[in-house]
Amino acid sequence: MNLIHTVAELQGSLQQKREEGKSIGFVPTMGALHPGHIELVKQCVAENDVSVVSIFVNPTQFNNPEDLLKYPRTLEADSKLLQEAGVDIVFAPSVEEIYPEPDTRQFDFGDLETVMEGQFRPGHFNGVAQVVSRLFDVVKPDRAYFGEKDFQQLAIIRQLVKQLGLNIRIIPHPIVREPDGLALSSRNTRLTPEQRKNAVAISQTLRKNQKEQNRQPVSELKKKVTAEINAVPELQVEYFDIVDGHTLQSITNWSDTNYPVGCIAVYAGDVRLIDNIRF
Ligand code: PAF
Repeated sequence: MNLIHTVAELQGSLQQKREEGKSIGFVPTMGALHPGHIELVKQCVAENDVSVVSIFVNPTQFNNPEDLLKYPRTLEADSKLLQEAGVDIVFAPSVEEIYPEPDTRQFDFGDLETVMEGQFRPGHFNGVAQVVSRLFDVVKPDRAYFGEKDFQQLAIIRQLVKQLGLNIRIIPHPIVREPDGLALSSRNTRLTPEQRKNAVAISQTLRKNQKEQNRQPVSELKKKVTAEINAVPELQVEYFDIVDGHTLQSITNWSDTNYPVGCIAVYAGDVRLIDNIRF
């Protein structure tokens, strides 16, 4: 495995592989890797001749400076995990490598970006689009892998690829969960033991209410799920919406879509967790 820090070195190395006709798979990450990332990475390794994983904590996607500061940085442990997973190249650039000039591009994803995460984290998806488009430009992968936990991000990335006319296949990977159901996230390490115990209520409540589809109106089910989670100590729902999985717009009636997805953001103390479930 090769650990590369500069764009020039990465491009040199990948150019050669491309000329040899090798396919390139790419997993962009912000590090602090957990088994969910590693599943994604293993899929990438299995499906491509060359696999590249980037580790870059992207400042432009953090609308909360505190969150950026607190984001765990664990390059050494991450590199070890990636080596074991069979990755060929780890790309861990500095901020200056990714943004030699400030990135002032403004993307327009229409209604996809104004709801849910976009509503509560203004500017977040613009930052994600800036870094992912830059990384795509540098790596030029054939396939890129994204987890379904960040359901809205996945929709935005698909749209980005369409808008920029890129020939990259976006491959989604199902949410990876702890045995008790909590969706894996780098933020889980920040939970106190008590919060960790309580946080299981997020996925359990979603799962328990999955069978309520068509039994009660969408608006009632949204209220019910929110109230059940808010009743758990230290948990506070920021939003819970049931949307059309393609457009991400709220549905009013179950018959509005054949792809209803419940998306939720919950604070456990000061740790913000997201999850989603297909109804
Ligand atoms: O999902 C993430 O970890 C990040 O948003 C990504 C896609 C690596 C961009 O910084």
